[in-house]
Amino acid sequence: MTTATRTVPGMGLWRLPGVYHPQGDTVLLGRALRAEDLRPGADVLDIGTGSGALAVLAARMGARVTATDVSWRAVLTTKANAVRHGQRIRVRHTDLAARLGSRDGFDLVVTNPPYVPAPAGRPPARGASRAWDAGHDGRLVVDRVLAHAPRLLRPGGVLLMVHSGMCGAETTVRKLAGTGMSAEVAERALVPYGPVLTGRLAWLQARGLASQQGGGAQPIEELVVIRAERR
Ligand SMILES: C[S@@+](CC[C@H](N)C(=O)[O-])C[C@H]1O[C@@H](n2cnc3c(N)ncnc32)[C@H](O)[C@@H]1O
Repeated sequence: MTTATRTVPGMGLWRLPGVYHPQGDTVLLGRALRAEDLRPGADVLDIGTGSGALAVLAARMGARVTATDVSWRAVLTTKANAVRHGQRIRVRHTDLAARLGSRDGFDLVVTNPPYVPAPAGRPPARGASRAWDAGHDGRLVVDRVLAHAPRLLRPGGVLLMVHSGMCGAETTVRKLAGTGMSAEVAERALVPYGPVLTGRLAWLQARGLASQQGGGAQPIEELVVIRAERR
């Protein structure tokens, strides 16, 4: 178990207002991405790219990168950051990978989707909270990604996904196994609650979610990176 508190090291990313600021989850997923042995020109898809932090990282690793987001601001931000970092990234405005077409599939799909349990049962239609709010159990977008992953990946392809321990790492591993993929928790880290979780602490406690995550004076959240491989 490690503590992830730094921002993405040395990236210097520009962001339009309302676009997700890379943080502990981005760093943890970036670490897992760096650990992958990507062949030059490997096809990588970053779902929910935000500022493009992970897309730029994958491109720097020599991958051919496609990045998607439902937010136009995120799409424009990622395009700008690709130019800023001298990387070619195909950026698409779409829900998950809906408008990518069915080509050959990807060698690796990386995603930091919205995963924060929220009092609203539906994902927000707009605004900054679209980056984190994900229904009562935090799994609204996570489960949709799991359902799509096998069709997006080539045989032997890898899914890397970060989410909160509050959403249930075991549930994610079990669901992926149910789609025929081999899955495991590849990384874990503890991070202090940020303003979003702090603002809904009473609601999380009432649902028995906050109490599982530490209990000290400063509430702590566990982040997990799930690594799954298509057989
Ligand atoms: C937690 S942020 C992650 C941003 C970035 N990948 C990072 O790690 O810093 C989640 C991103 O997913 C996007 N998003 C939310 N729902 C989506 C969907 N259904 N399809 C594609 N992107 C989505 C949000 O707009 C946001 O940019």
